[in-house]
Amino acid sequence: MALWGGRFTQAADQRFKTFNDSLRFDYRLAQQDIDGSIGWSKALVSVNVFTAAEQKQVEAALLELKEVVANNPEMILQDDAEDIHSWVESKLIEKVGDLGKKLHTGRSRNDQVALDIKLWCKQEITSLQQAIRHLQSQLIFTAENNQNTVMPGYTHLQRAQPISFAHWCMAYFEMLERDYSRLADAYRRLDTCPLGSGALAGTAYAVDREQLAKDLGFTRATRNSLDSVSDRDHIMELLSAASISMVHLSRYAEDLIIFNSGEANFLELSDRVTSGSSLMPQKKNPDACELIRGKAGRVIGSLNGMLVTVKGLPLAYNKDMQEDKEGIFDALDTWHACLDMAALVLEDIKVHHEKTRNAALKGYSNATELADYLVAKGVPFRDSHHIVGEAVVYAISKAKALEELRVDEFKRFSDVISEDVYAILSLESCLNKRCAKGGVSPQRVAEAIAEAKALIK
Ligand code: ARG
Repeated sequence: MALWGGRFTQAADQRFKTFNDSLRFDYRLAQQDIDGSIGWSKALVSVNVFTAAEQKQVEAALLELKEVVANNPEMILQDDAEDIHSWVESKLIEKVGDLGKKLHTGRSRNDQVALDIKLWCKQEITSLQQAIRHLQSQLIFTAENNQNTVMPGYTHLQRAQPISFAHWCMAYFEMLERDYSRLADAYRRLDTCPLGSGALAGTAYAVDREQLAKDLGFTRATRNSLDSVSDRDHIMELLSAASISMVHLSRYAEDLIIFNSGEANFLELSDRVTSGSSLMPQKKNPDACELIRGKAGRVIGSLNGMLVTVKGLPLAYNKDMQEDKEGIFDALDTWHACLDMAALVLEDIKVHHEKTRNAALKGYSNATELADYLVAKGVPFRDSHHIVGEAVVYAISKAKALEELRVDEFKRFSDVISEDVYAILSLESCLNKRCAKGGVSPQRVAEAIAEAKALIK
């Protein structure tokens, strides 16, 4: 039975019903809708719509329903109710008869759906935060095992200065830490309960909305009924947090794809997260990483869709808002799956330490060291930069690394260079010198790892 119909003399066209119904996707809000309904039934006792005994009966029926739904949420899809709110109400009426018909007193689907989606978002935030923590701990673990893995660091995808693989891992740890805190911020802001706002102007029943908010696990009740039923900021904010994090995961995936390529051959992704080609027997493709990179586009698309959908809407509720759900469901599911996959990829990654080290030795990534060496001997940095540039050109012409030049060859460019230059040109020296906070020196990286461990405990 539809929730409305008294005002209508004609039945809905089946094609319109299919177009309009949201049960197909909002069935995922069943638990939240039932929790919200239990909360509302209690509020209705305080305004004498239900007696305490009636409320108990309604609550028991709703809890029963909740259990059925928990075991088999898809069974909801068998029904042709308009949306999850109608579905829950009709099931309640099946169970408790006329009593169930009182539940919607003073409530609207507008405040109801606003509540349900917020409850869902809160739960989802917690589970996404766990997934982030899991990936972070995998990064820490991988960093710990690769503190001595030297590899080239890049700018412009040109070998720039040597870094350690551990330092690379910890860079992504930091990005994820910000993603985590963005979720925490979003949670704090959305933690207000819209129920009791009615359709738009507030409910005509003098329920204690602060008490209701507490009962439903919120910090407080929303302050303005018009805003309560039309606010979708939390959806936009979560989609934005998801998009930013997906950009991080996409860059992570891209780095790994490059490192795993035949050209770099810095590491090998495990058979567990790669796939073969149907034609070329030799191939092992980094599909997990490519899909993470690819799915970023789709999550960003959901953010864009939501912003554009809400942009021109007059206050308060409009049916356009029903379009929030598929986007947020898909985006958060996708984000979660990518976080999990990003962690799995790290699980048995095989880093080729010799390869990364050899690559770091090439590409003149110790040129900055030579410039600093000259500075230490009194040459102004701008001059030393130029001198080293010339030395690099010379070394390239001889197909040698800087540390392979003889002292007399160095002297062509600056006579302050002597035997002690070789010590500073070693990879270890390059790393050790970057010992200011946040730098790549092994000691700093070890500290960063220790800090990170403490942070996510
Ligand atoms: N299915 C609707 C949605 O998701 C529920 C709210 C319906 N409200 C209404 N006034 N028709 O937005």
